[in-house]
Amino acid sequence: MPGVLLGDVFPNFEADTTIGKIQFHDFLGDSWGILFSHPRDFTPVCTTELGRAAKLSGEFARRSVKMIALSIDSVQDHLAWSKDIVAYNGEAPDSMLPFPIIADEKRELAIQLGMLDPDEKDKDGIPLTARCVFVIGPDKKLKLSILYPATTGRNFDEILRTVDSLQLTAQKRVATPVDWKLGDSCMVLPNIPEDEAAKLFPAGVYTKDLPSGKKYLRYTPQP
Ligand code: BEZ
Repeated sequence: MPGVLLGDVFPNFEADTTIGKIQFHDFLGDSWGILFSHPRDFTPVCTTELGRAAKLSGEFARRSVKMIALSIDSVQDHLAWSKDIVAYNGEAPDSMLPFPIIADEKRELAIQLGMLDPDEKDKDGIPLTARCVFVIGPDKKLKLSILYPATTGRNFDEILRTVDSLQLTAQKRVATPVDWKLGDSCMVLPNIPEDEAAKLFPAGVYTKDLPSGKKYLRYTPQP
């Protein structure tokens, strides 16, 4: 079955993009990466999403995350559509999007990465790409994937929040609880014994009492 699973090395594909041909791993270099796919150029939801992604590009750069979009139209279409997106953002007509867009005209990558949406088809009945989000670590492995249907636009603030969690938990032996934001308390990993947790988290470990008597809800200030 096509697709990429968590922990897989992300395919090192070659692609035509709005900045020329790329080899994906070279494009990423030593950075984190985010690839987000779109059903089609010149569509309303996609335009709002790319506008928002462009506005948040400084936040992604601050986290050392290289951004790249994908849609199933040509480079020429992508470049013309980019002008609409910068206008939607209220920017000067000669502004460039701060990330490239992959032209997957033959849907080869869409198939390889498992991104086709069977419910959304073009005029010829061929499926469009879904709204996939792939976050790739500096080791080129897939760290997170989220899949939305074409009819549901993404929340890029949520995507940045997941990047914060991925980058923190790659370094520290914690997990981030529901609705966590940078600076909030974290959960001590269940497999860390109590004595080791006390040493690992000198800011303190706070355990919430539960009816089961089990001491698994262990919080620590964000390390
Ligand atoms: C959109 O981006 O607005 C869109 C694209 C394909 C299907 C539905 C919505």
